[in-house]
Amino acid sequence: MSSILTGITTSGSPHLGNYVGAIKPALEKIKESKKSFLFLADYHSLIKQQDPLLTHKSSLEIASAWLACGLDPEKTYFYRQSKVSQIMELNWILSNITSKGLLNRAHAYKAAQDLNSEKKQKDLDKGITAGLFNYPVLMAADILIFDTDIVPVGSDQKQHIEMTRDIAARFNHLYGETLKIPEALISENTPILLGTDGRKMSKSYKNYIELFSEEKALKKSLNQIVTDSLMPGEPKETKNSVLYNYFQAFATEIYLEEVNKMFSNGKGWGELKSDLFDLINTELKDSREKYFYFLNNANEVEAILKKGEIQASLLAEKKLIDVRNKIGIKPLDEK
Ligand code: TRP
Repeated sequence: MSSILTGITTSGSPHLGNYVGAIKPALEKIKESKKSFLFLADYHSLIKQQDPLLTHKSSLEIASAWLACGLDPEKTYFYRQSKVSQIMELNWILSNITSKGLLNRAHAYKAAQDLNSEKKQKDLDKGITAGLFNYPVLMAADILIFDTDIVPVGSDQKQHIEMTRDIAARFNHLYGETLKIPEALISENTPILLGTDGRKMSKSYKNYIELFSEEKALKKSLNQIVTDSLMPGEPKETKNSVLYNYFQAFATEIYLEEVNKMFSNGKGWGELKSDLFDLINTELKDSREKYFYFLNNANEVEAILKKGEIQASLLAEKKLIDVRNKIGIKPLDEK
């Protein structure tokens, strides 16, 4: 029986790219697995931003979005990282067997140093927190505390899973077989949704589309997708078309065949955008309603998470007792 686990950093509002690239594929994988863990990485979010209002708002929005899209909290351990305190405890234990050299090589840390170097900073560590530096250790604790088999992640997170494996192997080497070595599941065929301007969808480029906005706002955002200046009646290329990228992410195979024809038959951009709106809106309609329900009933979301946190903490404590024992933190009258 294999278990899967994944975390979402609570540092912003869910956008359409998160839905296509993370929420939808993860929910499918959860359906196929016997045991699953999905959590809000709220302590990870401190690494990216430290705005209390944003952290709080984002936690409710992200939890609501997953529930609205069909996450069943009866079948999945659904919790906040911050409420399973054993994770932070394991984080400390692991940080004492992790070599600093390993963390020096982490992409996120190196990228922050590269930025300083580009800015001709003398101190390459300027503005870099110990939190960012320790990021991979906290992630290892998230994963190892639940004996996770499989971690579905985007390719940007691959290195973190490799580090988790290294850290677990080192612990086992020092203290005896204790931690399970997880596998990364890198989703190669998950579609990547572009931003409305054709660049990577990102908050900082302001080219993202909110996952759940009112119909009118969704329509307006989709109308902003860049196209060329071909007129209705002129055949259109699907290759390199940002609009087509959106159709690809949402359409069934059969409907995509039809879209191909509409492009080659020269359907106008305006009409194509209207078709795209219908397609996406139909998919999101029911979830949108549930999403706004949860946002307005935060007490229900809080109760669902609390229940998950009790269950997750029980499991985590069991694991941590074993880990503490192995390192010699145990009752004094025990041999
Ligand atoms: N760092 C991950 C991201 O930015 C989120 C995350 C935190 C995570 N802990 C995790 C993902 C453990 C998988 C497993 O996407």
